[in-house]
Amino acid sequence: MSDTRPLEGQRALVTGGSRGLGAATARRLAGMGAEVIVTYRQRHSEAAEVVAACNDATPGSRAEQLDLLEEDSVRALFERLTDRGDELDVVVANAAATAFKPLLELKMHQIDKTFAISVRHFLLVSQLAFPLLQPRSGRIVAISGADTVGYIPGHGLLAAAKAGMETIVKYLACELGPLGVTAVGVLPGFIDTESIQLMTGPFHAKLIAAEERTHPLRAAATPDDASEAVALVCLPEARWLNGQIVQNDGAGLFAYMGRFGQAWSMVPDEMVMPDVSDAPMLRSTDDPPA
Ligand SMILES: NC(=O)c1ccc[n+]([C@@H]2O[C@H](COP(=O)([O-])OP(=O)(O)OC[C@H]3O[C@@H](n4cnc5c(N)ncnc54)[C@H](OP(=O)(O)O)[C@@H]3O)[C@@H](O)[C@H]2O)c1
Repeated sequence: MSDTRPLEGQRALVTGGSRGLGAATARRLAGMGAEVIVTYRQRHSEAAEVVAACNDATPGSRAEQLDLLEEDSVRALFERLTDRGDELDVVVANAAATAFKPLLELKMHQIDKTFAISVRHFLLVSQLAFPLLQPRSGRIVAISGADTVGYIPGHGLLAAAKAGMETIVKYLACELGPLGVTAVGVLPGFIDTESIQLMTGPFHAKLIAAEERTHPLRAAATPDDASEAVALVCLPEARWLNGQIVQNDGAGLFAYMGRFGQAWSMVPDEMVMPDVSDAPMLRSTDDPPA
């Protein structure tokens, strides 16, 4: 292991690696020395581009088709890995899909599909990955989302599934920890991905401007930004994060109350960072009156 390639000799599986956060995570893990198995559902050519970038950094990466709506597809992927003798150090359960609708408008098939990916087959992936992870004291990393900790319109279904995913992470941490495999959740805030652009349509530019104006880091997170913390929890040294859901939002959620006013121009700019050096509550009772 070297400082610049701390995952040298390791193998990672990243689901939903053809675009967005999954693609950025795959590239980053390969940059850190890991061979990466990039899964995609439909977009083979995008996945191939991600794999090419991974291979530039670390040869041995490849793409695998995986449809997390289909149990057979999950089983078939792990049969292929087992047949090849692929052991794993890291599994990043990143893929997700849902219908963004108010709860009362959801159809049963949308509920089933959302839970199939993020709960039912996340658990199946964990079960099937375990024998490949155990010889290497591997790690399961699950990507959750900010909708489990704060209301986002239209996110109720995905939030419920991700809350289930987070609970599975905590139980895996307790049940697999003694067997040598650890599990961590990562909870990103807003990430400017293609899906977000599609979802927000004409409001996208406004959303980005609001992030740039109000987020504590004064930026809208890119997939590359968000992949930094995902890669950190993949490091062997993150073993004691077992069972944690690591918030990866640059304090965007914590800052919500203050950001709300800023975003809607209810608070003038000069009040965003007021000069409180002479504020009464910071003065000692011994100070002379202002
Ligand atoms: N974007 C955000 O603001 C945000 C915030 C918090 C959390 N997250 C979470 O971060 C993760 C990545 O989000 P993202 O915005 O980067 O995602 P994205 O751009 O929507 O990409 C989704 C990925 O999942 C794959 N996928 C979709 N349906 C699948 C299925 N049935 N089986 C297997 N793979 C499937 C897609 O493959 P194809 O390309 O082949 O279709 C693609 O690689 C998700 O878990 C999301 O909930 C995102």
